[in-house]
Amino acid sequence: MPQLSEDYKQLIELANEARRRAYVPYSHYAVGSALRTKTGRVFTGVNIENAAYPQTMCAERVAIFKAISEGEREIEVISVVTETGGSPCGGCRQVLAEFGLDTIVLIADAKGKLIQKTTVAELLPGAFTSEKLSR
Ligand code: THU
Repeated sequence: MPQLSEDYKQLIELANEARRRAYVPYSHYAVGSALRTKTGRVFTGVNIENAAYPQTMCAERVAIFKAISEGEREIEVISVVTETGGSPCGGCRQVLAEFGLDTIVLIADAKGKLIQKTTVAELLPGAFTSEKLSR
């Protein structure tokens, strides 16, 4: 695994801390996420479950939507932390693709160990993006 910059370590720590605030009474699978925008702002997110299961929201999307709703549009790097270093779901990959295929994705476990450093383009080859909407 590549050496992690202090900056990346901090994003993983923030995501790991955020996991404690995950609302997961059904799956007990706590996910934390932390992202840094191209303008340097940091946002965190946790998964938020619901008794009506499909209304659950993933941690990554909470962090992304917080950033976008605060006026940000470009994500430099996003970390995702779960107990064992699980990978972002397809829906979150698609939402990430909307805001940059070059976004770096750091996947780590609860010990802070980096499991994978990748990009959105690698996680979602052939992504459906706005260019595909042109008629
Ligand atoms: N989950 C996330 O928060 N992010 C992902 O990328 C995968 C899944 C959440 C949704 C649900 O609360 C729990 O993990 C189990 O699927």
